[in-house]
Amino acid sequence: MSKIIAVTSGKGGTGKSTVCAGLGYTLAKQGHRTLLIELDFGLRCLDIMFGVENEIKYDLGDVLSKRKNALDAVAQVPMASNLSLLCAPKTLTAVSAEQIDEICRSVKKYFEYIIIDTGAGINSHVFEIVQQANLILVVSTPDPVCIRDAALMSDEFYNRGNKSQRLIINKISKKVIGEALVNNLDEIIDKVGVQLIGVIPDDFKTTVATGKGIPIPTDSSALKAFDAISKRLGGEFVPLTVKTS
Ligand SMILES: Nc1ncnc2c1ncn2[C@@H]1O[C@H](COP(=O)(O)OP(=O)(O)OP(=O)(O)O)[C@@H](O)[C@H]1O
Ligand SMILES: [Mg+2]
Repeated sequence: MSKIIAVTSGKGGTGKSTVCAGLGYTLAKQGHRTLLIELDFGLRCLDIMFGVENEIKYDLGDVLSKRKNALDAVAQVPMASNLSLLCAPKTLTAVSAEQIDEICRSVKKYFEYIIIDTGAGINSHVFEIVQQANLILVVSTPDPVCIRDAALMSDEFYNRGNKSQRLIINKISKKVIGEALVNNLDEIIDKVGVQLIGVIPDDFKTTVATGKGIPIPTDSSALKAFDAISKRLGGEFVPLTVKTS
């Protein structure tokens, strides 16, 4: 039975797609068959992040319109053999929670993890889709606006009945903490009110790698954080170490 994980945030641009790419990559490298489903209709990006922009033949739009079944529409990611990708359509396409549920059910015996990138902006459909996940990863940066939006989102999920949530604090740097934008990580956790699963440094190597569609280098501080979070998703205890620059 695969675990369905929705990666979401209140504010846009917090790093949801980067987190999906990093977790997908590290889970696959750890040997887990992983599928990334991108819901960023009209604004796909995971194809670029994995360097397969010109190799995508089908996307979620083909599945929603029943031109293809989900398994036939996924693309294999060459940089990680266990990793598959179901890209968002290039155009805006209507989608319901039931359709995403049906897609997940049709492929879940082939994958250990299905990670859903909810994309920018949130609407009631996305809320319903996210509700279906076994786990919601709420991504926030240390920016106070982002923290407040993450708290509001998390409260909404909680009120709708999904209590299985974890917080990822992304783009953490000494500069942000030094400028007293936030005093420390505990303050972010308290404000969002969700248990922490990992902290990802602001890491230029990750920006370059995802921009170029090449693997995140092994000496990248963010890759180490993605690797640790992936292990924690599987129930492994990995101590938290925060290395910022
Ligand atoms: N840990 C990180 N270190 C450095 N840069 C990062 C990190 N995480 C994300 N970024 C950069 O931040 C920008 C936004 O990231 P990303 O596209 O993943 O955000 P998003 O939440 O998916 O955005 P949207 O809401 O538009 O879907 C990108 O340029 C990305 O490379
Ligand atoms: Mg995105």
